[in-house]
Amino acid sequence: MSGHALARSFESIGDDYDRYRPGFPEASASAIVPSVVDAVLDLGAGTGKFTERLVGRARRTYAVEPSERMLQVLRSKLPGVEALIGTAECIPVAEASMDVVTVAQAFHWFERETASAEISRVLVPGGTLGLLWNHSDPMCVWDRACHRIAHPAVGDEDLTTDSADSELPGFVLVRREELHWTEPITREHYLRRWSTVSSLLIADDATRTRMLGEIGQVLDEAVETRGREEFDLPQVTEVYVYRRI
Ligand SMILES: C[S@@+](CC[C@H](N)C(=O)[O-])C[C@H]1O[C@@H](n2cnc3c(N)ncnc32)[C@H](O)[C@@H]1O
Repeated sequence: MSGHALARSFESIGDDYDRYRPGFPEASASAIVPSVVDAVLDLGAGTGKFTERLVGRARRTYAVEPSERMLQVLRSKLPGVEALIGTAECIPVAEASMDVVTVAQAFHWFERETASAEISRVLVPGGTLGLLWNHSDPMCVWDRACHRIAHPAVGDEDLTTDSADSELPGFVLVRREELHWTEPITREHYLRRWSTVSSLLIADDATRTRMLGEIGQVLDEAVETRGREEFDLPQVTEVYVYRRI
């Protein structure tokens, strides 16, 4: 399965994505936009799970996303946001028109070089690019085990380090933060969340059923989760803040 097909796997699940995926802590938005700016653009915005953290931090908020289905959810939740169909490789706004561009949980789907150049184009000189990802907490053994079931080809190392690094063409890394937080979650919600992950979305029915069965088995065995309808899920949000050169 190509990266393109994986990236497009979200197109069909706007409502479920919005309902079951984790949100982002307020502190992650503060790290990128510490004071009110004129214009901010959330790229690969999906259903607006991070966009909603930007509202009130800019006089104008834009969301760009290739999936119409995801954008429909975003528009219904955030009517004050200018929601535009587009991609990171072809952003439908004028050059030097944004103070801040944010990318939550999506930069790894982009054509890195083309998207970096396009983000540079739309940012004002000295503008800010914020990349962020939610990760499993490496200390949470049962959640890690579930990640290994859903992503068998990914090593443990790759579960915490994504596509961000200090070298982005046209940008300099100015800040990096790792935010730890806890999400209370029901067993049903946790299992449904896994059904919105790209590797399960593209799996055939038998593989998806097997993976969900194995994840359920992990929950049945771990002391933190067995016999419980609700438990605490440790989360880590990694934030990378870059300045446009
Ligand atoms: C994992 S979702 C993250 C959505 C949202 N930012 C969030 O944090 O909930 C990845 C999003 O990236 C979008 N995407 C995939 N390829 C893209 C591209 N080349 N340009 C812009 N967005 C893209 C997908 O449609 C999807 O909405």
